[in-house]
Amino acid sequence: MSKIEEIKGKIKALNAEYAKIKTIAPEERKAFGIELNKKREALQKELQEALDAEESGSVTPIDITAPAAENAQIPEIKKGSKHPLMTELERVLDIYSHMGFNIMEAQQLDDEFHMFESLNFPEGHPARDGYDTFRTAEGYIPPAHTSTMQHRALKRYKKDLENGGKIAVVIPGRVFRNEDVDATHEHTFYQCEGIFVSEGTTFGQMLGVLKNFFETYYGQNLNIKTQPGYFPFTEPSIELLIEKPKSLGGKGDGWLEMLGCGMIHPNVLKMAGIDPTKYKGFAWGGGIDRLVMLKYGLTDVRYFESGKLDFLKEF
Ligand code: DAH
Repeated sequence: MSKIEEIKGKIKALNAEYAKIKTIAPEERKAFGIELNKKREALQKELQEALDAEESGSVTPIDITAPAAENAQIPEIKKGSKHPLMTELERVLDIYSHMGFNIMEAQQLDDEFHMFESLNFPEGHPARDGYDTFRTAEGYIPPAHTSTMQHRALKRYKKDLENGGKIAVVIPGRVFRNEDVDATHEHTFYQCEGIFVSEGTTFGQMLGVLKNFFETYYGQNLNIKTQPGYFPFTEPSIELLIEKPKSLGGKGDGWLEMLGCGMIHPNVLKMAGIDPTKYKGFAWGGGIDRLVMLKYGLTDVRYFESGKLDFLKEF
């Protein structure tokens, strides 16, 4: 029998008691009635409580002061995880720092000077159009590439050159472009910039550093090749390609453009107060998203910024 039925049964039995009033001596009737009323009130209260409990579902009260692990009803809290781009970026930085590069972080808002002038794009230079990006109402620029940090990095580490050393720095950052978004183009993505300056820097050293980086990151020997590119801040300017190996889903016959690089233009060194007749340098910049997509065989760059948990949980 349910609790409700049991109480109802008691109330029914109690109601029958009232009939007995007639048989009781008149002077005792009042006390008898009061006693019955008390009992009935108590039963009705009990019934109401039982009905309320049933309505709110048969929830067993929990002790909210008990430690979570002891209380089986509190769902286990699922921990989040690092975004795959951040995990991979740490691997990238680890490789460069083992090679002896310092790390500087890029800004997410920059200005006209660092975006253009300091990189040898004078006003009205047609190559400015290739870096179409956004602007805030105050005229600040969410940078279209991490190269906007070159001038700052050169100035910051210039002392090392003067002390007979070299400038070796990598600069990861988030960049923004006014793109038509599709599977291979995002308006927001990550890049890593690199700069190396010393007295005897050569083009061959640049290729050596970059080949070494890609081989370490992908954990295998790779073929690389270069093709001419154009950037106002390097002379010559190069695009570096790697041959897509079978283990990364390639047929061994495809070339992928991984980054832009070149020997730092004398004007860029001069603007940072470095004598280009004495020092030479190389610089490069490439997308992190693209690097990671190739590593995991991903075909749509938009997943990275989508916040889709089922995608993120795969890493
Ligand atoms: N900033 C260029 C881009 O995003 C890539 C690049 C090219 C960076 C040459 C460099 C460089 O540092 O030397 O298109």
